[in-house]
Amino acid sequence: MAEIAVTAPLPGDALARLDGGHQVRVRASGPALGGRDMVEFVGAADALICLLADRVAAEVFALCPRLKVVANYAVGVNNVDLEAARTSGVWVTNTPDVLTDATADLAWALILAVARRVGEGDGLVRSGGFTGWKPDLLLGTSLQGKTLGIVGMGRIGAAVARRAVGFGMRIAYHGRAPRAVAGVEAEFVPDLDALLARADVLSLHCPLTPQTRRLIDERRLRLLPRGAIVVNTSRGEVVDEEALVRVLESGVLGGAGLDVYEREPEVHHGLLGRMDVVLLPHLGSGTREARAVMAELVVDNVLAVLAGKPPLTPAVKPLVPRS
Ligand code: DGY
Repeated sequence: MAEIAVTAPLPGDALARLDGGHQVRVRASGPALGGRDMVEFVGAADALICLLADRVAAEVFALCPRLKVVANYAVGVNNVDLEAARTSGVWVTNTPDVLTDATADLAWALILAVARRVGEGDGLVRSGGFTGWKPDLLLGTSLQGKTLGIVGMGRIGAAVARRAVGFGMRIAYHGRAPRAVAGVEAEFVPDLDALLARADVLSLHCPLTPQTRRLIDERRLRLLPRGAIVVNTSRGEVVDEEALVRVLESGVLGGAGLDVYEREPEVHHGLLGRMDVVLLPHLGSGTREARAVMAELVVDNVLAVLAGKPPLTPAVKPLVPRS
């Protein structure tokens, strides 16, 4: 009988599928796990199901010799030491595809909220400050004809681009290589700085890696056209948050829409009081539908590995899988 450790309850009924034939330990919701606490929690488990805020460091692979699979309940796997997993013989899986539309929708919710000042308008009405229609009340920015600059044209970046067609935006993108997206005319810009210089709306969709950590720093933020909007639904560490605050304070940007933060769940105090930013609590994949299918996929991946098969959505294939 295999042992499966789960760091938090997941939405839907998917975890129940693990019960037959396996011993399942589900931790009650609580602060994210990491360090020695994670090692202790995994213990003698054969499989770990964890959340994106949990940290799975190299010591987990070294000190938990029965562990065969880490199934991350997220598409991003920056919280797992992937190289240690690979060399230790442990599969790492993620949840691609099933959250693409939900996350692209949320990126667009942020783009529209910042461009059309949705948060400010909501606040004005609730505070009783709406005294009647005025020609110049809370004027926003039109998106039609403007350029959407996408960094990372993977699944989510492509879904954001598809939605931009309906808004009449020009689309340019930067990534490792050009990629054709059906129904979308998008220009590949090999030089990130050149993309930034044209992006009226910048939307970030790259994974967090050593190469993308603080990719969007102060110098790059200052390349954006005056009035540009920065939207981040990828990982907070891709943007130098302190620099973003400084550049927003200098008044050259139109605003920012953020779903993720450099020191999540902490949010830079310089962002909290600003009316030109919209701040969400990492809701990218947060629809009932997406989160339920993510749970099913996580369970399928664990069951596959425990049955001696490759998982459905591997993020890391081990050098020599543990048996
Ligand atoms: C992920 O799955 O990596 C997303 O950030 C969740 O919203």
